[in-house]
Amino acid sequence: MAVEAFADIPGGDQPIAPGDLAEFRKRDVDRATIPHAAFMVAVEQTTGRVVGYASLLLMPEGTRRLAWHGMTAVARDWRGRGLAGALKRATIGWAIDDGLDAVESNNDTDNLPMRAVNARLGYQPAPDSLVMRGPLFAGMMTR
Ligand SMILES: CC(C)(COP(=O)(O)OP(=O)(O)OC[C@H]1O[C@@H](n2cnc3c(N)ncnc32)[C@H](O)[C@@H]1OP(=O)(O)O)[C@@H](O)C(=O)NCCC(=O)NCCS
Repeated sequence: MAVEAFADIPGGDQPIAPGDLAEFRKRDVDRATIPHAAFMVAVEQTTGRVVGYASLLLMPEGTRRLAWHGMTAVARDWRGRGLAGALKRATIGWAIDDGLDAVESNNDTDNLPMRAVNARLGYQPAPDSLVMRGPLFAGMMTR
């Protein structure tokens, strides 16, 4: 699922590499800060095929208990049917039941479907963060 979805995430110089299954599990699944009970997987009933997933990433505890939406991924042939919205709502349900104060998300401005899902879920935009990349001036490279 990640191999298919990561290739479709807009932004960046090149697609995000999911790595092999062991790397994917270590980075995106089997971490203490990724609650397994909030890791939602959509399975196509007739075939048993995984067609989507959504996860949360717990932030270090401060005055508020916060989580970030991790990846939300939907198989290409299942997109546009509300599956991402349903998966995210399930993660938010877990966050409410677990007593979290807020859930935040970070999207590339070009990711119109993901931003549409988040807008529909009621997320309020925070100030944009602009990332710029370019060659350093020759003089700066020696410092
Ligand atoms: C983003 C993604 C998860 C959405 O999955 P999905 O199941 O198609 O999402 P939904 O059907 O729940 O909702 C899609 C919404 O995007 C809207 N949409 C789709 N294409 C759009 C476009 N080009 N411009 C604006 N809105 C668009 C749909 O109208 C819908 O909004 P609505 O419910 O208000 O009508 C899926 O496209 C995906 O897996 N992309 C690759 C991985 C990715 O980018 N993940 C997020 C990383 S931050």
